[in-house]
Amino acid sequence: MNNDIERVLYSEADIAAAAQRIGAQLAQDYAGKTPILLSVLKGAILWTVDVMRAMDEYAEIEFIDVSSYHGGVESAGTITLRTDLTTDVKGRDIIILEDIVDTGRTLKYMVELLEQRGAASIKVASLLDKKEGRVVDIDVDYIGFDVPNEFVVGYGLDYKDLYRNLPYVGILKPAVYTAEDSATLNGQD
Ligand code: PRP
Repeated sequence: MNNDIERVLYSEADIAAAAQRIGAQLAQDYAGKTPILLSVLKGAILWTVDVMRAMDEYAEIEFIDVSSYHGGVESAGTITLRTDLTTDVKGRDIIILEDIVDTGRTLKYMVELLEQRGAASIKVASLLDKKEGRVVDIDVDYIGFDVPNEFVVGYGLDYKDLYRNLPYVGILKPAVYTAEDSATLNGQD
């Protein structure tokens, strides 16, 4: 699996430091509030466990499963709610945990859903912020790294549901993409 990676962008140690930094900041910002840490499956799994362990403050953990990429390299543009969260978010402070915000469509969908349900506040803590990819106007509140416009995998991020278990974030070798996906990726702006 490591042989499919062209270059490591963020090492295990880099990511651990980012999780510590953001976990400590969240503990400070949410002291006495008991927020809900809302992990967006599947990509945010590793980021969730590392940030929550670094946050020395009361918090509940919830999961929601939404998907927009359907396994490929480019956002499909439509968001599918695969598994909804079961907790009532009305009046609650929500911290959305994401692995990456790219076009911003998934995040916008999530924020609108939580607003409709009456959340008291909604913030976002994302390991990666790919600002160049943005097609909707939405910002990330807590950012691990500003990532360049490359197709990255590892530490939760996948290509065709693989590579999530790499402990670092890296750039996939172009030779690994299918010809069809490669054409799509090269067409990205
Ligand atoms: C990825 C990622 C974010 C979203 C970001 O999820 O985990 O949720 O895409 O992209 P966007 O800003 O362009 O919407 P994906 O749909 O691949 O599902 P997964 O987490 O299960 O891999």
